[in-house]
Amino acid sequence: MTKLFPSLLAADFLYLDKELNALEEAGVDGLHFDVMDGQFVPNISVGLPVLNAVRRGTNLPIDVHLMIEEPEHYVEHFANYGANMISVHVEATSHIHSVIQKIKDKDVKAGVAINPGTPVSLIEPLLSIIDYVLVMTVNPGFGGQVFIDSCLEKVKYLATLRNELNLNYEIEVDGGINENTANKVIEYGATMLVAGSYFFQQADYSTAAKQLKG
Ligand code: DX5
Ligand code: ZN
Repeated sequence: MTKLFPSLLAADFLYLDKELNALEEAGVDGLHFDVMDGQFVPNISVGLPVLNAVRRGTNLPIDVHLMIEEPEHYVEHFANYGANMISVHVEATSHIHSVIQKIKDKDVKAGVAINPGTPVSLIEPLLSIIDYVLVMTVNPGFGGQVFIDSCLEKVKYLATLRNELNLNYEIEVDGGINENTANKVIEYGATMLVAGSYFFQQADYSTAAKQLKG
């Protein structure tokens, strides 16, 4: 069954507590927590103090997506603040293997994220040691962008590789997920969907969650 992780970036931060309760009631599988540094991406979002609040507000698994340069300096902090999963961008560090090791050493699930312009081949040597691949289907930095269709082939290729290599990493897809694109990514092999603006615009989160998971 496909998992759904709504992206808190599109939640109403004034009523974060209510949002967290509503998400739990809607039966989502976890929360996606986007961290942006104004360097790796042209936007700044939230960091450790907000993660600390969210951790106290929910028992749902928290998937931290680090869109920051040199994540090696921060992964331990995000783990200490309660992340259950942490993904780092292969484009943001010269030491991707060691960052993944640092995440795993904290008993947190480790993911590697790739931008729309980054080929899967760049992360093939990592597939046997990671828990998930995050395929960006928009250029990272902002919610509400249009899904980039050409990224679908990467999802398919990752699903094929997983079978061929007998591995079991999750394939997470992030960016532009709505009622039309969700079906497509699932068909191509995605196992975890992130949905921000589309999901939080729906009046009933429960119905939205069921609809997106297919
Ligand atoms: C974009 C973030 C996404 C974002 C998705 O840089 O990584 O997680 O919140 O938002 P939507 O679903 O609106 O594209
Ligand atoms: Zn994200």
